[in-house]
Amino acid sequence: MSVDVLLGLQWGDEGKGKIVDVLTNDYDIIARFQGGPNAGHTLEFDGIKHVLHTIPSGIFHKNSINIVGNGVVIDPIIFKNEIDSLEKLNIDISKNLLLSKKAHLILPTHKLIDEASERSKGKLKIGSTLKGIGPTYMDKTGRNGLRVGDITSINFSDKYELLIKKHKKILSNYNFNYDLLKLEKEWLSGLETLKKFQHIDSENYLHKAYKSGKKILAEGAQGTLLDIDFGSYPYVTSSNTIAAGACTGLGIPPNSIKEVYGIFKAYCTRVGSGPFPTELFDEVGEKIGLIGKEFGATTGRKRRCGWIDLPALKYAININGVTQLMMMKSDVLSNLDHIKVCTHYSYNGKNIDYIPFDTEGNSIKPIYIEMPAWKEDLTKLQSIDNIPIELLNYIKFLEKELDTPIKIVSVGPDRKQTLKR
Ligand code: GDP
Ligand code: IMO
Ligand code: MG
Repeated sequence: MSVDVLLGLQWGDEGKGKIVDVLTNDYDIIARFQGGPNAGHTLEFDGIKHVLHTIPSGIFHKNSINIVGNGVVIDPIIFKNEIDSLEKLNIDISKNLLLSKKAHLILPTHKLIDEASERSKGKLKIGSTLKGIGPTYMDKTGRNGLRVGDITSINFSDKYELLIKKHKKILSNYNFNYDLLKLEKEWLSGLETLKKFQHIDSENYLHKAYKSGKKILAEGAQGTLLDIDFGSYPYVTSSNTIAAGACTGLGIPPNSIKEVYGIFKAYCTRVGSGPFPTELFDEVGEKIGLIGKEFGATTGRKRRCGWIDLPALKYAININGVTQLMMMKSDVLSNLDHIKVCTHYSYNGKNIDYIPFDTEGNSIKPIYIEMPAWKEDLTKLQSIDNIPIELLNYIKFLEKELDTPIKIVSVGPDRKQTLKR
């Protein structure tokens, strides 16, 4: 069969969790390919809201297998919390959650190093979620890391102690106080939870599944503009969030990928530091944030809000080879006076429609067109045929500019508030 990939085209929080949940009925396997508990993927159905950090967003469907791929980094403490929350809801996931033996572990000291490093940066801080993501991926590429498959090896504690010793040396370079004992206790308890799940050679599992005709959906975390290579460096995360990340993060070959679903908000948000050309600093931005409940699902931080940015979306579509778009949170823009769309940037006195190398400070200025806003409440709509003409015009304009079809229009956080085109 084939592998389809679903990923964010902006700075994360586009609504990936919701759409993976909506699409899961069409797939046998949902596999997360990168990132860690810096992600917060929200799902809503039957009046309950769930936030997942490590576990793939297909977990609420009994018949789907959910795989945490080799490209993911796992914090046993957060993983245990997620499992505990699911168990409280009487959801049995012991058989349909599988963990790659090659996924790296976030140690308590990774989180401490993350925090110490951010503090030392002062104003230049990345705005990290402080979940230890950067230091864990650094140990992965530095060939020091510990993996899920190591947990059951007889010399695991020796490997752990060796790495902790290294980390203590790093921490001694910072003026930073910490209490490792408490964190270690929680971490070891989380490790016991991790041990209860099946640890698999996920690349082999996926190859077999693929050959036997199973349908696989690869779930991304973060967004293209946070990608370590192509994002707004250094204000990025430490993994490849793009479609290519699905290949390295799951061991699937590029030619197995069929559809690439690109998710974006009808506007734009960013949490953490870094350039954001279309950011709003006025009451419209405040209103969007308030109506869209734009607070981080992982850290609760207020998300910065702004208008949709077409040069950035085109860039993301090209890098990922997006075949279908999904526009989220259209309901949030109801009742604005008008909507602005950034079509170009002004850069060194010229109009450009791509992201230049240097986007910090005021080097690029967005150029907007204005479009009429829709006044209706969209949240009760049952069919795409009933959307207001202004929204239809907005969709058609974006499709033309982006040269890619918009197949899903989301009009609320609930599973059911999803209009297919
Ligand atoms: P993810 O990280 O991409 O999975 O996105 P998050 O879960 O961090 O953030 C998206 C937020 O928007 C969540 O609170 C969702 O419940 C919510 N959401 C998703 N789609 C819609 C939508 O169409 N309308 C509204 N109002 N909220 C939405
Ligand atoms: P989901 O999957 C939004 C941001 C952080 C920070 C930068 C680096 O929910 O879309 P890190 O913790 O990786 O060191 O942080 O990336 N960031 C996210 N922003 N959604 C996310 O994930 C994010 N994961 C990381 O705010 O600016
Ligand atoms: Mg999120």
